[in-house]
Amino acid sequence: MMVRPMQGGGAYDRHNEYQMRGGLLHADLVATAASKIVPDARRGSVVLADYGCAQGRVSNPLIRIAIDRVRSLHRNIPVQVYQNDLLTNDWAGLFERLRSEDSYVRVGGGPVTPLAAAISFYEPVTPRGIVDLGLSFAAIQWLSAPGPRGCGSVLYFDQLEGEPRAEMADQADADWTCFLDLRADELAPGGAMVLDMMGVSTDGVAAGHQVWRLVRGICEDLVREGRLDAARLADYVLPIYERSVDEARRPFQEAIGDRLQLEHVELKPVPNPFTERYRENCDAAAFAADFTGFFRAFSEQNLREGLGLDDDTIEQLYRVLASRIEATADDFAFDVHALTLVIRRV
Ligand SMILES: C[S@@+](CC[C@H](N)C(=O)[O-])C[C@H]1O[C@@H](n2cnc3c(N)ncnc32)[C@H](O)[C@@H]1O
Repeated sequence: MMVRPMQGGGAYDRHNEYQMRGGLLHADLVATAASKIVPDARRGSVVLADYGCAQGRVSNPLIRIAIDRVRSLHRNIPVQVYQNDLLTNDWAGLFERLRSEDSYVRVGGGPVTPLAAAISFYEPVTPRGIVDLGLSFAAIQWLSAPGPRGCGSVLYFDQLEGEPRAEMADQADADWTCFLDLRADELAPGGAMVLDMMGVSTDGVAAGHQVWRLVRGICEDLVREGRLDAARLADYVLPIYERSVDEARRPFQEAIGDRLQLEHVELKPVPNPFTERYRENCDAAAFAADFTGFFRAFSEQNLREGLGLDDDTIEQLYRVLASRIEATADDFAFDVHALTLVIRRV
């Protein structure tokens, strides 16, 4: 079963205030990496790649920073930007954004060509040896396929125990190694990547712990009401894995370490904007609505197809989720930790 994209029709970009905050934390790292680009003289252009770009709102300012920095050192150099996401991505939303006033294509001093690379990043995305700077924000926690089957009502990786939990950790490790291997092929000599994914905090509590526990309870109710097939639920674990710093480092101790060097790794809490607003205005209904909009934008397509839910049941699921979040707003937490890596081709 394929991983499904974010909500379409521009909806993901209307609900990604939180991802926006996480992305902007990386502005300095992106600027520094861009200033180290040495363009290939024969190619005569600079190539950037954005892996898992969705509709492009988060990466747009960061790509603009990178192009600005490159152009301040290499005037008028052409830049090509590979925008990568799944074939089913909202590509129209991405290209609409690229037409906006603040789009990176408007950075002056030479042509900027956006290219759509519509394929899984667990496959080759660009020709070999051409990427001067690879970027990825809030995408690599998505695995190549859902987790282990036959796990009752478990929906999120942190609800797994014992053997299935180890199986999913192995799957996440294999995917991460595959991603790095492919990117090592694609990086130009001297090329680098700034990658950000959801990491698990040092206390080991996943960001999605509470919300996915609530969704699991709602799905168990849907099974009792006959609106969700128990076997379908038992065979679906969302294809997301929040890695620890040690898990992110692990492949560099093996063969990939001969091809890629891990220059920097950090785990940073990203303050939750919905929680911040709730602390100020105490409006639990607004908090639940905003959070559910954010959560739905990245989870709906996967739940719809993974569990075989129809429109009415999907509406019910998110309606009940919002009401349960509202009822427990004071204790509800969803605290993302950005796991950031700077990696250079050896
Ligand atoms: C949470 S969104 C992040 C999007 C954007 N980078 C941002 O920061 O808002 C995750 C993105 O990764 C994409 N994605 C997930 N698995 C992928 C894969 N195997 N190949 C390419 N893109 C993938 C999804 O389609 C989605 O657009």
